[in-house]
Amino acid sequence: MRWLFGGLVALAAMAACHPAGPDRAHVEALFSLDAGRRPAPASSVAVAALGGALFAHRLGAASCRECHSPTSYGQDGLVHQRNTPTLVDAARQSVFGWDGLAPSLAGMVQRELATHHGLVHDASLQAVLQSHPDLQRLFEPAFPGQAPTLDLAAAAISAHLATWRSRGRWDRYVDGDDEALTAAERVGVATFIEVGCAICHGGRNLGGGSVHKLGLIEPYESADRGREQVTGKATDRHVWKAPSLRLAAHTGPYLHDGSVATLADVVRLMGRHELGKHLAASQVAAIVTMLRAVGDVDVDALPRTASLAMEHARDH
Ligand code: HEC
Ligand code: HEC
Repeated sequence: MRWLFGGLVALAAMAACHPAGPDRAHVEALFSLDAGRRPAPASSVAVAALGGALFAHRLGAASCRECHSPTSYGQDGLVHQRNTPTLVDAARQSVFGWDGLAPSLAGMVQRELATHHGLVHDASLQAVLQSHPDLQRLFEPAFPGQAPTLDLAAAAISAHLATWRSRGRWDRYVDGDDEALTAAERVGVATFIEVGCAICHGGRNLGGGSVHKLGLIEPYESADRGREQVTGKATDRHVWKAPSLRLAAHTGPYLHDGSVATLADVVRLMGRHELGKHLAASQVAAIVTMLRAVGDVDVDALPRTASLAMEHARDH
C-alpha cells in the first residue's frame, strides 16, 4: 500500500482542475486498480446457495439481511454497535470492518456470526442447524462429506456476498469512456483529485483498501477509539478504514458512528479534518455531484431501490 500512497500523493499534486475534467492518465493511474478484479476463489452454485440461505435465516436475534437489507443497498441506515456498512461490493475491498482488523471477508463474516448470532464454536453452529433442517440439508451438496463448521459457513456466505456487485457509469468512465459522465460530473472528479481525496479514496472503489486516522490534520473527537480498542496501541486511536465511496450517495448516515447525516457535510468534514482544507461551497457541490454519478449503479442480484430519489433530495 505504501508505494501506492506515495504515487497517489504525487499524482494528486500534479492533477490540474480543468473544466473538461481530469487528464485521462490521472484517472487511470488513480482509479483503475480494482481489488475485485482478482479472480474470486472458485465456488460452486451450491456453495453460494448455502451462503444466501444462511444470510437470510435468523440464526440468532436477527438475520444478516435484516441489517444488511438487499432492498437498501445492503445496509439499513442505522447505527448498531457501529454504523451498518453496505455489503454491495464489500468483496471488492482489501480491508474489512470499520477498524480494518478483520483479516478477510470470510474473517469479517465470522466476526459477524459471533457478534450477532453468538456463534463462536462449530458445536454451537451445529446445534442451531439441528433446528433448521432446511439449512442443514444445503450443507451436503455444498461441502460433500464434511461436517458443518463456522469456517465453511463463512466461506459460503462470502461466496454469496461476492455476487453483490455494482456496475454503472463510473466504471465506464474509468474504463475510458469520457462521455459516461457529464461535464459537471467530470469537474467533480477533477476536484476530488485536486483537493486530495483520492490519496485515501483511490482505486475503482474509491476506498476500501487502507486505514487512516480520522482527524489526521484537525483533530476529530469520537467516543469509539477504533483499532486502539483491539491493538492497545495509542497510534491506532481513531484509525478507521477509508471506506469505498461507490455507494456513498445512498448509504447515509456517514462515518463509523453514523454521526454525519448528509453527503455535503461529510465531504466538508473530510476536507477539514483529513486534508486541513476549508473547501469552497462550489468544491463541495462538485464532489457531491461526482459521488452521485458514481452511485448511479445497477447491482447484480439486487433490485434497484426506490430510495434513490429520496437520498438525492435530502442533501439539498
Ligand atoms: C444488528 C445488525 C447487523 C446484523 C444482524 C449483521 N450485521 Fe454485519 N454489520 C453490522 C455493523 C454495525 C457492521 C460494522 C461493524 C464493524 O465494522 O465494527 C457490520 C459489518 C459487516 C461487514 C463488514 C463490511 C465491510 O465493508 O467491512 C460484513 C462483511 C458483514 N457485516 C456481514 C454480515 C453477515 C454475514 C451477517 C450475518 C451473519 C451480519 N453482517 C449481520 C450490522 C449487522
Ligand atoms: C487521510 C485519508 C483521507 C482523506 C484524504 C479523505 N478521506 Fe474520506 N474517509 C477517510 C476515513 C478514514 C473515513 C472513515 C472515517 C470514519 O468512519 O470515522 C472516511 C470517510 C469518508 C466518507 C464517509 C463514507 C461512509 O460510507 O461513511 C466520505 C463520503 C468521504 N470520506 C469522502 C471524502 C472526500 C470527498 C475527501 C476529499 C475532500 C476525503 N474523503 C478525503 C479517510 C480519508
